[in-house]
Amino acid sequence: MVPAVSFGSTMSNSIGVIGLSVMGASFAQNLSSKGFKVSVYNRSHDKTEELLHKNNNSIYGYKELEEFVDSLESPKKILLLVKSGTPVDLILEQLAPLLQSKDIIVDCGNSNWQDTELRITRYEGKFNVIGCGISGGESGALHGPSLMPGGNVDSIGKILPILQKVAAKDFGGKPCVTVVGNGASGHFVKMVHNGIEYAIMQGISEVYGIMKQQGYGNLVISEFMRSLNFGNLQSYLLDITVAIISTKDNEGNGFLLDRIEDTAKAKGTGGWSVEAGMHFGVAIPNIASAVMARTQSARNMSYLKRMQFESEESHHVTMNEEFKTSIYRTLEMVFLTSYLQGLDLIYQANEQKKWGIELEEIIRIWQGGCIIRSQMLGMLKLFWGSDNGWKTKLFAEVHADLGNIKQVCNQTDIPLPVIHSTYDYLRTLFSTQLATNLIQAQRDYFGAHGYERTDKKGVFTGGWN
Ligand code: 6PG
Repeated sequence: MVPAVSFGSTMSNSIGVIGLSVMGASFAQNLSSKGFKVSVYNRSHDKTEELLHKNNNSIYGYKELEEFVDSLESPKKILLLVKSGTPVDLILEQLAPLLQSKDIIVDCGNSNWQDTELRITRYEGKFNVIGCGISGGESGALHGPSLMPGGNVDSIGKILPILQKVAAKDFGGKPCVTVVGNGASGHFVKMVHNGIEYAIMQGISEVYGIMKQQGYGNLVISEFMRSLNFGNLQSYLLDITVAIISTKDNEGNGFLLDRIEDTAKAKGTGGWSVEAGMHFGVAIPNIASAVMARTQSARNMSYLKRMQFESEESHHVTMNEEFKTSIYRTLEMVFLTSYLQGLDLIYQANEQKKWGIELEEIIRIWQGGCIIRSQMLGMLKLFWGSDNGWKTKLFAEVHADLGNIKQVCNQTDIPLPVIHSTYDYLRTLFSTQLATNLIQAQRDYFGAHGYERTDKKGVFTGGWN
């Protein structure tokens, strides 16, 4: 029988983990497997005991928070893996009297970056709060996540050697962790990561929807998804999609996916990204469309009679090479524009907040461990570090692909919010003239809000019939 509490020698453990749900327990095991002596604490002690039963190799559990803190070497380094929001504030309040000014608390939850900003200020001089995005789910936490720490740069420097040991590896074999920047930059970058995650997931599900509407069976669709999973599109999200679509329901004859309700839930990070887009003045339509698609999927309007959109005629699009190519190119554009929009948001926020973020580093640390990892991030890293010639070439290729996206949109009458949004985003980028001059005119007509002319400088008003 493993003892319920296994004490490490006082003040000698390298790192502490608070919160032993799936992510916390997995991360503690990852740390211990890399040779660190890990102290763990959970509000309800059962979870601590559960973890110690599973793995007590250099993991030490404590019933009292004070004992847990005492067990750590100074400066104390504590990873919080508790639910974002109030639970983070509650534990910080409990920890505050037990910590010194050099101690480091790393909040690894999906905390709202604005909350992190407040917490950094609130505890300034008392201890250091680091907001650290962690991506990769349970398996990432256990085998190597992508880590996005932001906050006091010296404090991050102290914890970095530990994080480097447990992180996933990028395409060049370097750990998927970096000093993201100061302030709440780590949680901001993780929020945008999740926004991109929403957009790419929605794009893939739209391709699934197209195939389903054509009447193709799950095994065929799964194989189709596998056939797309190469080159720039080779990705974790396509990997899991191939597996998900072909999984049989062990409670019936069919496939598990077909038994799942079509209302998509969300915990908030996508919506926060949209708010941030508005706050920093950055258009992120793929992310916004994906958030709205999840929200609208609830269709909680009782007065609506649902209509069948399934095609009467099955397989009217033949799954030939041409079809595959147009879907591949379309999905490639979805991935590309989702990454570009997210990176643009990080860029603009960083310009205003002066966090010191290097976009190339963000692209690098997303290459392994995280949910949005894909081969395209290799190409994007080159893109960011390159001269304009490379960028011109890439956008010329993108422009040539607009026809593919249009063709895909025309082939179906199911909703394709992110694919349409990708098309419109690119059309907008490539347009020499938008129709938004009329909006400026209307604003001026009814409210004298002013307009700028194409033929002379200044702000003008009036001149209407
Ligand atoms: C990750 C994920 C993770 C997130 C889930 C669920 O990077 O590991 O982003 O942090 O919590 O993806 O998010 P939603 O419930 O909002 O879909």
